[in-house]
Order: sequence, then structure tokens, then C-alpha cells
Amino acid sequence: MSLPLAQSRLAAARHVVVLTGAGISAESGLRTFRGSTGASAEDLPADMQTLWKEFDPMRLATPEAFDADPAMVTRWYDWRRRGCLAAEPNPGHAALAKLERDLTARGGTFTLLTQNVDRLHQRAGSVNVVELHGTILEWRCTRTQRRFTPGPEPMTEFPPRSPFHPEGLLRPDVVWFGEMLPEVALAASARAVERCDLFMSVGTSSVVYPAAAYVRAASANGAFTIEVNLEPTPISGWVDAPIHAKAGEVLPRMVC
Ligand code: OAD
Repeated sequence: MSLPLAQSRLAAARHVVVLTGAGISAESGLRTFRGSTGASAEDLPADMQTLWKEFDPMRLATPEAFDADPAMVTRWYDWRRRGCLAAEPNPGHAALAKLERDLTARGGTFTLLTQNVDRLHQRAGSVNVVELHGTILEWRCTRTQRRFTPGPEPMTEFPPRSPFHPEGLLRPDVVWFGEMLPEVALAASARAVERCDLFMSVGTSSVVYPAAAYVRAASANGAFTIEVNLEPTPISGWVDAPIHAKAGEVLPRMVC
């Protein structure tokens, strides 16, 4: 019922915003933080559970955690960084890149707000991407804030020393719990949400703010709202078209 409605509204939309979360990269083999994995939890070994089931975010994804144990935190992020580099974009990423091309070709606008740090959208061909939580592929000096792109091989020193300052360390250029989102990303998101006539939320549990508030703001401005997720989330009850399916399967059908 919701799919044909979403398809027709998408075909007619002019200003589209898509918000993505870890679920869109699940079919590329990257683990989500919470929510459904598409398999029953008892069937999964620990290293295939959602990340925040196996690891404690307060010991890994906060500035305090980095100050307390920079070696452990950077080792964990380097492990995840290499996972992202090894992953390939899936048909869900490709469908969103096609949606952007089609919309801009017919004079519309497309903005992709992503909470993902894996850069798979850009590798699939998406251009107007706002990285709300930064990227794990770039690291930055704790003293100078200069950015550094590590090579594909595993890092060998934990915590990694900064090449830019004798007392600096390198940390991933991601947003940790308790940190501000980049101002440029916040401003770009606010502009896009304000003008969009269609907002689609894909593969996010919709519990981390401010990203989780964007769909509500878009709806309040009159935008048509779509959710694509394996399971119900806090927004499923009120979006215009809730679609419970795998992003990599349903998105290509929505933008064909
Ligand atoms: P979550 O891990 O919280 O949520 C992933 C969502 O994707 C869940 O609701 C799943 O049901 C859904 N899902 C899983 N596989 C899917 C598939 N194939 N197709 C569609 N949906 C699928 O990820 P985010 O919402 O991105 O922040 O999490 C937001 C933030 O919380 C992250 O950026 C991260 C995390 O803690 C930080 O690390 C600061």
C-alpha cells in the first residue's frame, strides 16, 4: 500500500531530502549500532550483533573515553575504518545516487543527510551529501585540528601521533556523543529541510538527535514523509508512507 504511494510522490517531488543511517549500509556488510539485523538475535555470534550490543558507546564514542584511553578508542575506530574501506556500496546507495541525478536533470534539488561515516554514498555517486557525524576515513590532529587521511593499511601506533604537532594525537573526524555537529552541516540541513516537499528517512532508528528531528520538521512544513526501515521506529506511526523492508531491495524499485 505504502510503496506505490511513495513511488508516485517521489516521481512528482521537486525538492527531496533523504536522511540515512547505518541501516542503509547493513547490506554492504557494515554493522548497525542498534535495531534489527534482519536475523534473529540468538542466531548471531557476538561479532555480528549490533555494535552497541557488543561495545559500550560511553567507553568508545565520547571525548571522555578518548581522554581516558586514547589507545583503545583509536584502535577500535581504526578497526571500523578498515571495515568501511573494505565495504562496497549496495543497490540502496546506488538508487539514491540515481534519484539525485534524475531530480537534478529535471530541475529539482536533492540533499542527502547522512549519519553514516563510511563514505559509501559518495562512492556510489551521490554528490550533495551532508555528513552530519563526520567521516571515519579522515582523522584530525587534536592540537591543530588539521585533517589527515590515513592509508588503507592498518595503523600501527595507538594512539597515532599527529604528523602536524609534536604533542598532538590523531583522532577520527567523527562526531562523538556530547560533541556539537559541524555548523556547516547543521546549516545545510536546516536549509534543505525547510524547502523540501518530500523527506525520506532510510535505515535509521530515529533516536539520535538532531537528525531524528528533521523528519518531524519537514512534515510540519508540509513535506510528504516516507520511512524505509526493517522494523517500526518512533516515527513509523505518523509518517505518510512507512515501508518496512530492506533498503537495498526497496529503494531501487522506488526510483526506477
Ligand atoms: P542505528 O543502528 O541506530 O539504526 C539502524 C536502523 O537501520 C535500525 O532501525 C534497523 O532496523 C535498520 N536497518 C537495519 N538493516 C536495514 C536494512 N537492510 N534496510 C533498512 N533498514 C535497516 O543507526 P543510526 O540511526 O544511523 O552515532 O544511528 C544514529 C547514530 O547512533 C549513529 O550515527 C551513531 C550511533 O550511535 C555515533 O556514533 C555518535
